[in-house]
Amino acid sequence: MSGPMAQCADCAQRFDDRTVASTCAACGGLLEIIHERPVLDADALRQEFFGACCTRPQSMASGVWRFRRLIHGGLRDDELVSHPEGNTPLLHRPAIDRYAGVEGLLLKHEGHNPTGSFKDRGMTVAVTMAKRLGARAVACASTGNTSAALASYAAQAGIPALVFIPEGNVALGKLAQTIAYGARTLLVDGDFDACLRLVRESSEQLGVYLVNSINPWRLEGQKTIVLELLQQLGWTVPDWIVLPAGNLGNTAAFGKALREAHDWGLIDRLPRIACVQAAGAAPFALGFAEQFAVRHRVTPHTVATAIKIGDPASWDRAVRTLLETKGVAISVTDAQILAAKAVIDGAGVGCEPASAASVAGVRELRAAGTIAPTDRVVAVLTGHVLKDPGILLDRMTSEVADDPHRPTRIAPNVDAVARLLG
Ligand code: F0G
Repeated sequence: MSGPMAQCADCAQRFDDRTVASTCAACGGLLEIIHERPVLDADALRQEFFGACCTRPQSMASGVWRFRRLIHGGLRDDELVSHPEGNTPLLHRPAIDRYAGVEGLLLKHEGHNPTGSFKDRGMTVAVTMAKRLGARAVACASTGNTSAALASYAAQAGIPALVFIPEGNVALGKLAQTIAYGARTLLVDGDFDACLRLVRESSEQLGVYLVNSINPWRLEGQKTIVLELLQQLGWTVPDWIVLPAGNLGNTAAFGKALREAHDWGLIDRLPRIACVQAAGAAPFALGFAEQFAVRHRVTPHTVATAIKIGDPASWDRAVRTLLETKGVAISVTDAQILAAKAVIDGAGVGCEPASAASVAGVRELRAAGTIAPTDRVVAVLTGHVLKDPGILLDRMTSEVADDPHRPTRIAPNVDAVARLLG
């Protein structure tokens, strides 16, 4: 084998790195990218990944392409469609520790990516591959963030982009970005799962390159969330990584990143992965509670529209992640999500509702005793606070009298301000 290949997760059939399909031509299983063991040892790999990003050439300034050897070592600099992206901070705020009940809780804030979510990491890789294959158009179904990322990267690559979104179920900021970056936006009368079915059929029949997270290259990019956070921790392994889960692409990517990092000697043990779903859209948490005896599908309901998904595509590979990492999947209510979001926002960090599910999940797992108070925990915040301004502006009309964030109407004079200050 020379360079990475795609392999069917079900029947192990192999395809070369220029395959256009996301599924196996023989059995329909999802493809995953397999790599040869890097020629460098772990220390040399760490050295290669290390570097002051500002003094490096453009490709090494990307928190994705710095890890190119673990994505596709054969790509040249001039082939990459990179913003650049990644290099997101690991934040710590005592107020969020107190809320979650865990000391030293670290927040990997993926909202600091160029289009405001972790999707940029997968999309730089998928659009790079689309350009390399000479795709005439690229397409995705989305709850909003994938479409914003695709629209941006496709514009950079000069490839027309088609996005299928569930009408009325995409937050304002995401829709605005998608339109601004110039994607062809299709509003579908159906939920995300219906959009995904439609885009899969359309791409098969119309020859459009599909870049949803069933595309194996997307996961290669999203692996770098974990690689970068391990690098930021000096390659010491936390006890837990907690993330919100919808279509389960990230859960799959995290498991693959950890498996490979362990196989290649970059880390000496695995952290436990905790997936957090919204209670009204929690088929995977339901499956976990039954040892995955059944693959559940639900009609999703939640304020966290990013994870309003009832039939997650990466189910099997996410199960593998949980089994390999002794992970867990739980659900939290919309009220818990919004309470956690208020704490994260109020600490000056901010995130979109789906992202707050991870902190709500840490609090829940801590309360249940699954996470110990001294465990080292990293929670991933997947999207920026401005992604969903609608949910914030609702506070303007909020009936909750003691909401400290609610704006106050005053007369235009200093007396009014003085009265307010008490
Ligand atoms: N958090 C945010 C902010 C998301 O946008 C998504 C997924 C997730 C978490 C869940 O990640 O699907 O890999 O389990 N958003 C997709 C989209 C579905 O279309 O933007 P997952």
